[in-house]
Amino acid sequence: MRIVSTARGMQELAAAARAAGRRIGFVPTMGALHEGHLSLVARARAECDEVVVSIFVNPLQFGPNEDFTAYPRDGERDAALCHGAGVTTLFAPAEGEIHLTDHRTWITVAGLEDALCGRSRPGHFRGVATVVAKLFAIVRPHAAYFGEKDAQQLRIIRRMVRDLHLDVAVTGCPTVRAPDGLAMSSRNAYLSADERRAAPVLQRALAAAAMSVRAGETDAARLVSEVRAAIAAEPLARLDYAEAVDDETLEPVGEIRRPVLLAVAASFGKARLIDNVVLQPLRR
Ligand code: PAJ
Repeated sequence: MRIVSTARGMQELAAAARAAGRRIGFVPTMGALHEGHLSLVARARAECDEVVVSIFVNPLQFGPNEDFTAYPRDGERDAALCHGAGVTTLFAPAEGEIHLTDHRTWITVAGLEDALCGRSRPGHFRGVATVVAKLFAIVRPHAAYFGEKDAQQLRIIRRMVRDLHLDVAVTGCPTVRAPDGLAMSSRNAYLSADERRAAPVLQRALAAAAMSVRAGETDAARLVSEVRAAIAAEPLARLDYAEAVDDETLEPVGEIRRPVLLAVAASFGKARLIDNVVLQPLRR
């Protein structure tokens, strides 16, 4: 496994791989790797010749009162995990390699970035889209792999790639969960033992709503109330939002007639966690 820390070095490697006809698969991350990240690596490995993982805690996507400084960082452990998972190149740039101090260019995916998490994290998705566009220009992947856990992020990246005619195949991968249902997340490290026991309520609430849809419920407001009530019953959870939106436009829906993204965000102590499920309308 090569470890590359400069944008130029990464671009040269990518150019050489492309010249040799090798397919480049890319998994962008912020490190503190877990099984969710490694599932993306496994998929990239199965489909590509080169697997590039980037580790970059991107300051542009953190709000002023968010956890940029506290975000877990463990480069050595991450490098060992990447090595064990068959990553061919680990791209771990310093901040100045990605964001020039006087940079002025931003990518905004209008509409999609203001919904759901965008409301409580203004500027977050602009920071995500901007860094992913830069990483694509540096890593030059044929294919890039993102987790369904960050559903809004995945939809924003797909839209950016489409709108900018970027020649990257974006693949969404299923959410990897702990045995009790909690979605794996680097931020789970912030949870106390009690909060960790409480956190699976998010997945249970979403699973119950999906069950209601399979039993014939089509009213989005009733499903959302069901989810809110389940989360409100957990004293350690502070709900940010529970919403049912169109899976593609992220606009609010009244009825489950097309695929609907049911998404939640809630804090447990210092950890703000998200989860979601896509509700498929019943065929009649
Ligand atoms: P990070 O939170 O490190 O996540 C990196 C990738 O791993 C994302 O595509 C995310 O959806 C995926 N992922 C996280 N938890 C997962 C899980 N439990 N199951 C499956 N996939 C999971 O998302 C980011 O970093 C950043 O915003 C980034 C895209 C790197 C831009 O800075």
